[in-house]
Amino acid sequence: AGPCDLYASGGTPCVAAHSTTRALFSAYTGSLYQVKRASDSATLNIAPLSAGGVANAAAQDSFCASTTCLITTIFDQTGRSNHLTQAPPGGFNGPATGGFDNLAAADAAPVTLNGHKAYGVFVSPGTGYRNDKTNGIATGDAAQGMYAVLDGTHFNGGCCFDYGNAETSARDTGNGHMEAIYFGTERTWGTGSGSGPWIMADLENGLFSGGTTGINTADPTQTARFLTAVVKGEPGMWAIRGGNAVSGALSTFYSGARPNVAGYNPMHKEGAIILGIGGDNSNGAQGTFYEGVMTSGYPTDATENSVQANVVAAKYATTSLVSGPAVIVGSAVSFRVTTPGFNTRFIAHTGTQVNTQVVTSSNTTAVKQSASWTVVTGLGNSGCVSFESRDTAGSYIRHSNFELLVNANDGTKQFAEDATFCPKAGLNGQGNSIRAWGYPTRSFRHFDDVLYVASNDGVETFSATASYNDDVSFVVGAAFA
Ligand code: AHR
Ligand code: AHR
Repeated sequence: AGPCDLYASGGTPCVAAHSTTRALFSAYTGSLYQVKRASDSATLNIAPLSAGGVANAAAQDSFCASTTCLITTIFDQTGRSNHLTQAPPGGFNGPATGGFDNLAAADAAPVTLNGHKAYGVFVSPGTGYRNDKTNGIATGDAAQGMYAVLDGTHFNGGCCFDYGNAETSARDTGNGHMEAIYFGTERTWGTGSGSGPWIMADLENGLFSGGTTGINTADPTQTARFLTAVVKGEPGMWAIRGGNAVSGALSTFYSGARPNVAGYNPMHKEGAIILGIGGDNSNGAQGTFYEGVMTSGYPTDATENSVQANVVAAKYATTSLVSGPAVIVGSAVSFRVTTPGFNTRFIAHTGTQVNTQVVTSSNTTAVKQSASWTVVTGLGNSGCVSFESRDTAGSYIRHSNFELLVNANDGTKQFAEDATFCPKAGLNGQGNSIRAWGYPTRSFRHFDDVLYVASNDGVETFSATASYNDDVSFVVGAAFA
């Protein structure tokens, strides 16, 4: 059985079921998600390898070879057409054309399930999916359940990495107009114990870790790499549960009365579905989503426990975040441009600015050092790398406002993540493309001889699609000094 078969047996059927990694019904053979590639704007629907099985990631890999792909649609597996697509502007605009949110890179969150490769949905700040015209999703005070499998190590303090029920207008229409799973360290409204991240409920104008605003110490800091998060609500009652998605059982972090603040009892759910954003299209948060559902009715703990066992049996595991020629920790490297007409230039820095310069063996040691970098374990993710300046120890290449800078490591989570890059095979077939860990639609790109992290979408000047594959491909060679 799949998770939605278990919810159906429990009398609380799925009314939305979303996953880019696997089918959530044992008989499901339809599309899981759609990708769109930049080279010709063609799309491809990805289905499970077999009924009830893991996504056919190999079909995506061949379709997206030598270009970039985005996840355009996450299909609803229930037959109700509650598909998730690029979130529109609402109370807040997204960064994409027309105020829409960004779409996720299709290959940014690789995992394996029972040994088969699949991809999750990697949400950077600015990324979001939504459906404002749904079928069968709870409204008003009606009961619903939800679970989601998330990357417990990918989070931030922005508002709001959510999955669940939200406003159909993408605007904040008041307390109780949402009921979604939240995951992260946003502290404005509520917190759990420790320093976070926490599973909370986004009920609109408040992230709740329990029955009151503020701290609820029974809601613990989550540390599992793969996390199962549960939020459910019915008249006068709601709960938060969670557990490690690869072993063990769910625990209940709160189960009890609705918050004693006007607007939350009864609830005023509107029945839209959001992923990666807040109800009003707040889009400052980050996280990774692998699978999740929404039910009709309040699932029993026993039903959720059987779903957790099913998730554990799916055997989520990590896999490599890098590809292409090895960029070896401990080595000292240079990066040569591969764009025709520019391919004697190397990535260098002038003060804090990262740029390209023509460098040869006859340059001064100072110039050679400015174009040389030490590869270290990724400051923000040990599966990727960071690049320390050879002339300024303790300073690293990082992005800020999507420009590359050489800055001293200030020890913050933000710096560590901004300085972490995951090399993959060069998009033009040469060397590597150096992708930003936290913004994996973006890679190192030289533009007018200045370095940025650029997407392949033309939204910023430096993200021009012309010459993209060449401009993001660098031959990683020996350092000059
Ligand atoms: O409830 C927290 C957030 O507050 C909601 O997601 C958003 O709509 C509002 O800004
Ligand atoms: O470069 C993009 C973002 O800009 C970085 O993550 C952040 O440090 C800055 O706001």
